[in-house]
Amino acid sequence: MGVNVRGRSFLTLLDYTPAEINYLLKLSAEFKRMKANGEPHKYLEGKNIVLLFEKTSTRTRCSFEVAGRDLGMGVTYLDPGSSQMGKKESLRDTAYVLGRLYDGIEYRGYKQSVVEDLAKYSGVPVWNGLTDDFHPTQMLADVLTIQEEFGDVRGKKMVFFGDARNNVANSLMVVSAKLGMHFVACAPKEQMPAADLAAKCREVAKETGAVIELNESVEEAAKDADVLYTDIWVSMGEPDEIWAKRIELLQPYQVNAKVMSYAKPNAIFLHCLPSYHDRNTIVGEEIYEKFGLEAMEVTDEVIYGTQSRCFDEAENRMHTIKAVMYATLK
Ligand code: CP
Ligand code: NVA
Repeated sequence: MGVNVRGRSFLTLLDYTPAEINYLLKLSAEFKRMKANGEPHKYLEGKNIVLLFEKTSTRTRCSFEVAGRDLGMGVTYLDPGSSQMGKKESLRDTAYVLGRLYDGIEYRGYKQSVVEDLAKYSGVPVWNGLTDDFHPTQMLADVLTIQEEFGDVRGKKMVFFGDARNNVANSLMVVSAKLGMHFVACAPKEQMPAADLAAKCREVAKETGAVIELNESVEEAAKDADVLYTDIWVSMGEPDEIWAKRIELLQPYQVNAKVMSYAKPNAIFLHCLPSYHDRNTIVGEEIYEKFGLEAMEVTDEVIYGTQSRCFDEAENRMHTIKAVMYATLK
C-alpha cells in the first residue's frame, strides 16, 4: 500500500512509521534534485501558510519561507513579539483563527503541548519547528545528509555528545530507533535522555533492529562511529545561570580532533547549528571572558574540517521541510 500523510500534522517522529519517514526522505531528495535542475515545482499554488515563532531562528524560518515560496504558497511570518497569542488571546482561540485563514501552521516555541493543541484546535496540518522536547524537521535533514554520504542508514552508528536530553538529542534517538540505526547518547549521567523516552525508543528498536545505547565514555562511544553529532550546551529557553554548571559537566564531551580520531576514518560530523565554536558571537565572547573557553561543544578545526557536513545539513533543512509541507498539504 502506498504511503499517504495528507492532512496530517508533523509534531514528533514518534507519530510516524518508518515507511512514512522514508517516504518523506525520498520526496526530499526529489525536491533537492528539482531545485538543482531549476525545475519549477509550484505544486501548492493558491495555498497560504503561517510561521509562528516564539523563539528565534535562522535556518528553520528561512527554510519554511523559501520552501513555501518555491511551492507557490503565500507565507506569513509572526515573530516572537508580534502575535496576540498567550498575551491577549488564548492558544485555543488563536488556533481557531489561524485555521480559518491558513492551510498550514508552523510553530516554534516552548512546550510540546502547545504544538499539540494548535494541531487539535486549528484543523489544519501543524509542523513542529522546534519545542523544548523535539525538533522533528531537523531530523529529516540530518538523515538525508547521512544518506547522501553512506546510502542506507540501517546499522550506522551515530553518537550524540553533550546535552543528550535536549530537543535535538531526543529527536535523534527517536529517528534512529525508527530507522534501525545504532544511536549512542554520550553524556554525563545528569544529561542523559529521560528514562521514559529511552524506554519508548527501545520498544520501537525491537521492531526495527535499532540499538539505543547510553554511554558516559567518550572514547568508547566514539569508537567506530559513522556520525558524530553535537549541539549547544544550553538551549533556547534555559536560564543563563545554567551555563557554569553545563560547562563543568559537558567540557569533557567537546567534539575535537582527538574525539574524531576514535571514529571510523570516513566518519562525518553533524551539528544542527547555530554553534559556539569561536568567539565571533556575543555569547561566545561572553563565555570566553567568564570561563576562558575559546570553543564550546565543537572546535573550529572540526566544524570547518573535511569531515564536517554541517552546511550540507543546513541546506537540507529547506528540501526536507518542502517535502513535509507538500506531503501533508497536497
Ligand atoms: N537548526 C535550527 O533549527 O536552526 P535555527 O534555530 O536557526 O532555526
Ligand atoms: N537545542 C537547541 C537547538 C537549536 C536549533 C535549542 O533548542 O536551542
